[in-house]
Amino acid sequence: MTSSLAAPSHAALDTVSMPGADLGPIGDDLADAGDRFTLAHLPSAHTENARAAVDAVLAGQELLTIRGYPSFEELAALRDALWPKCHVSAVYRVDTGGQVSTTARRREHVLDGSWSAKGRQAAGLSLTEAATVLYVRPRVEAMGQTSTRQKFDLNAVGWNGTPGSPTYRHYRWMRRLLAEIAQPCAGLTALDAGSGTGWVGLEAARMGAKVSAFDPSPAMVELAKENAKEIKVPLDARVGFVEDVPFDQRFELVLNSGVISFAPDADVYLDRLDAVVAPGGLLVIGDLNPKSRGFARRRARDPMLPARELNGLRRREVEERLVARGYTIEKRWYYQLTFPVPELMALAEKRDSHFACGAMLALNRAASAVDQLFGSVAETWFDSWILRARKGT
Ligand SMILES: C[S@@+](CC[C@H](N)C(=O)[O-])C[C@H]1O[C@@H](n2cnc3c(N)ncnc32)[C@H](O)[C@@H]1O
Repeated sequence: MTSSLAAPSHAALDTVSMPGADLGPIGDDLADAGDRFTLAHLPSAHTENARAAVDAVLAGQELLTIRGYPSFEELAALRDALWPKCHVSAVYRVDTGGQVSTTARRREHVLDGSWSAKGRQAAGLSLTEAATVLYVRPRVEAMGQTSTRQKFDLNAVGWNGTPGSPTYRHYRWMRRLLAEIAQPCAGLTALDAGSGTGWVGLEAARMGAKVSAFDPSPAMVELAKENAKEIKVPLDARVGFVEDVPFDQRFELVLNSGVISFAPDADVYLDRLDAVVAPGGLLVIGDLNPKSRGFARRRARDPMLPARELNGLRRREVEERLVARGYTIEKRWYYQLTFPVPELMALAEKRDSHFACGAMLALNRAASAVDQLFGSVAETWFDSWILRARKGT
C-alpha cells in the first residue's frame, strides 16, 4: 500500500523504506497494513527520540526499529512518550539470526518466523545485530471505528464469558453490579450502549427494565440476541457506535459499561450519550480505573498495552464532565480489586479451581461493599469504577 514517504526532518531519525514481504511473519501479522511497510530507525529507545518518532509515524512510517533490546521499562517509557498522538500496537524482537519473536506477553502477537537478511539490511541493521521493532499507528487509526469493530468481532465469543468456567460467576457479578446500581429499574425504558454480548442490559431486563442495546460489533450484537433468547427476555439489539447512536428515541435509563475508554474523544462521546438520556433520566456508567495500582504497574513495565488502558479516564474526570452537562451524581462506586487479585484469578482459572475463583469473587464483593461503607475513596485499590448520574429535568 504505502510507498516510501518523506523522511522526517529530525536528525535523530534516519528512515528507509522496504517491502513488507521482506518482513515475513511480521508482514502477515500486520496484514491490514498492506503489502508494503515504511520503516524508520530510532537511535535508541530514549524518550528524547519520541518527538521525531511521532513525526515519522504521522508522516506514514509504520515500523520503528531500535538496535538491540531496550528494557521493557525503557520501551514502556517510550510508548508513553508517543501517546497520545501514537499508539504502540506491537513490539517484536529480531535476534542476530533474524528470528522474530514478541517482547510482549500478549499471545495474539506471538510470532514465529524470520526477517530476511535483505530486509534487515534495507532497515539499516547489520546482519549481526539484534533489533527491536515497534509497530506504531497514529492514535486516530488505532482507536478508529474500523479497528474497534474488527477487534471486537474477533473477540466476541471470548467476551461472552464461558458458562461453567471457574471465572464465569465473577464475570456475571461484574455485569449484574452495574444493573443493580440502576435499581429500581422495573418498567423503565433502558438502553445498553456498547453492550458487547448484552449481559449488563440483560441483567437489567431480568430486573424488569425494557431493554434495547447496541454495539459496533455485529458479532457481539448477534451474541446479545442469542443470550436474550436463551433467558427469554425481549431485546432490540442493533449495530452502532455511541458517536452515532442507532436509536432515535430517548431512554429513562442508559447503561454504559466499559466503553468510554474506547472513545477517541470523550467529550464528543459524552455529548452523544447525553443526547439519548431522557430529561430526569439515569445514566449508569462504568469503566477501567487508570489510577489503580495494577494498571499503573502494567503501564510502567509492559511495553505494549491496549490503547484503552492509556486512554481511560479516572472516575473523577468523568464525574466532572457529567456535572458540567447538568447531571447530579447519586452514587459512586469502585469495584474489582486490583493487582494481584486479577492475576491470581487468571491463575486459578488456568488451574480450573472453582474454589479459588469463588474465594476471590467473595473477596471482590466484600471489598466493594467496604468501599461503599467508607465513601468510595480507595481509588488505587480497584481496577474499575461506576457512577450513577441523574440528568437534570
Ligand atoms: C469492554 S467491552 C464491554 C462490553 C459490555 N458493555 C460489558 O460490560 O460486558 C467494550 C464494548 O464496547 C464496544 N465499543 C467500543 N467503542 C465503542 C463506541 N464508540 N460506541 C459503542 N460501543 C463501543 C465494543 O465493541 C465492545 O463490545
